Parts: sequence; structure tokens; C-alpha cells
Amino acid sequence: MSMTIFFLILSCALLALCTSADPVNFGYYGANGPNKWGSLSPSFSACSKGKAQSPVDLRNENIVYNKQLKPLERHYHSANASLVNNGFNIGIHFDMKVGDLRIDGQKFYLKQMHWHSPSEHRVNGKKMDAELHLVHQNEEGSFAVVGVLYKLGDSDPVISKLEKKLVELAKESSAGYDGAHIDLGTFDVRHMKRRSRTYYRYVGSLTTPPCKENVTWSILGKVRSISTEQIHLLKAPLSPQFKNNARPVQPLDGRKIHKYSAQG
Ligand SMILES: *[C@@H]1O[C@H](CO)[C@@H](O)[C@H](O)[C@H]1NC(C)=O
Ligand SMILES: *[C@@H]1O[C@H](CO)[C@@H](O)[C@H](O)[C@H]1NC(C)=O
Repeated sequence: MSMTIFFLILSCALLALCTSADPVNFGYYGANGPNKWGSLSPSFSACSKGKAQSPVDLRNENIVYNKQLKPLERHYHSANASLVNNGFNIGIHFDMKVGDLRIDGQKFYLKQMHWHSPSEHRVNGKKMDAELHLVHQNEEGSFAVVGVLYKLGDSDPVISKLEKKLVELAKESSAGYDGAHIDLGTFDVRHMKRRSRTYYRYVGSLTTPPCKENVTWSILGKVRSISTEQIHLLKAPLSPQFKNNARPVQPLDGRKIHKYSAQG
């Protein structure tokens, strides 16, 4: 047994803190990979026992056109923000109210956004190269997430604005992955609001532990473009366990995916 492991075990035994002091004890492969998440902590049980989990494969045969659905109503503005290494992905956190998404008369406030690479949702079985999640929450604590898929190609203009900061974040992260952050100053979230004439709506879960359910998903139909360089920048600050941070697709278990389309 190496001395490092010995001291790790010793300090865990002394402090009995190992699991509780380490919020990121899940990973994307091996002993704490996605099919083990449900057993890593009692609070993660939905990850294995849930019946309405995310991500899912958006397959034509499971998609129904729903003419009751309204265009996505989003009101975003600018706010102080920081670029954060969440340990398991890179995101942007806002230090104040930055806007909302309205669904069926309910307001869901934008809390944070983060990227996964490759994509988590699939389209007819096909994985895309990255996916952005804009995470909103209403006053009761229910989540609504807007997902944006990216395919390799030209650089994405929003990520382009963050390139220097991503390099700084990678430097800061090398001293300790978790919680490293870089001030962005004022970040205009209106840049995130792109017209989308199509979206896919279904009820699922958060895609990371605790995999909480009853999350209203809206996956935009418009696939955006991201460069190889930008994907590298989004992965660089992460530890090896999290460089590929896409949870595998989950069974629909009878759920339908509802399609909104401006032209029907
Ligand atoms: C944004 O952050 C800066 C520095 O952290 C601070 O000086 C400024 O007052 C903040 N702006 C708002 C609107 O909170
Ligand atoms: C599920 O989320 C919706 C909002 O999308 C909320 O109105 C409802 O109360 C939630 N249900 C439960 C059981 O939390």
C-alpha cells in the first residue's frame, strides 16, 4: 500500500469525512461511473431507481407534434457572472437574478449554465459534440432546463468571448479542480437567447447526481456549431475523470417527447 493511500485511509478513519467532505464522488467511468451513481449515496437513489431520467434519445418514433405548446418565452438580461469549474463540468454562475423562462404561466429563474461534452441528449441515436444546459428553477424549487446541442464546425460566438477566461480557469484549476472560478464581470445572457423555431419538450431529471426528477426539458431544435479548439478549452480545466462528462441516455419508459414547431 502506498503511503499516500495509507494516509488517506487513516485520515478518513479519523475524520469520518471522506464521503461527506467530497461532494464530487461520482464520475463518468469505472467504479463510480454512471451505472453506479445510484449506489454511491442514499440521496442519489433516483439515478438508478428513477423512472423518468435524463438524458434521452430524441428518436422520431417517440416524438409527437404538440400544437398546444407555446414558443419558448425567455426574458434574459445581463448580470455579474463568474466562470466556474464545478469539478464535473464548466459553468457560469450568476450572483443575482438574470432572467426567466415562462412555461404555462410559471416563472423559472435562470440560475446557472454549464456545458457537457460530448452531448448528453442524442438525436436518432446520434451523439453530438457538446451540449449547453441553462438551468432554471421556480420559487417552489422545480427545475426547467433548456438544452442546446452543438456539432463540430465554426466556433460558437458566445464561447469565443470566454476563450481567454477558459485559459485562466485551466491555470487556476491546476491548483485544485473543484470550485476554481474566474470573474467575468458583466455577462449579457441575451446572447444566449437565440430564436429557435423548434424545440423538444419532455419531463426528465437532472443529468448529474442526485438525478432529481420532474425537470421540464426543452431541447432546442437548432443545432449550433462549436470548434474543436473550443471543446478543448471546455475540457482543459477538468480532471481526467470528467473530460467526457455525458451521462448515457436513459430509457423513456413510456414517455413521449413533444415537439413544438413554429410552422407546424
Ligand atoms: C459586479 O461585480 C463588481 C466586482 O465584483 C462590483 O464592483 C459591481 O458592483 C457588481 N455589479 C453589480 C450590478 O452588482
Ligand atoms: C413538478 O414540476 C412542476 C413545474 O414544472 C410543478 O408545478 C409541480 O408541482 C412539480 N411536481 C412535483 C411533484 O414536485
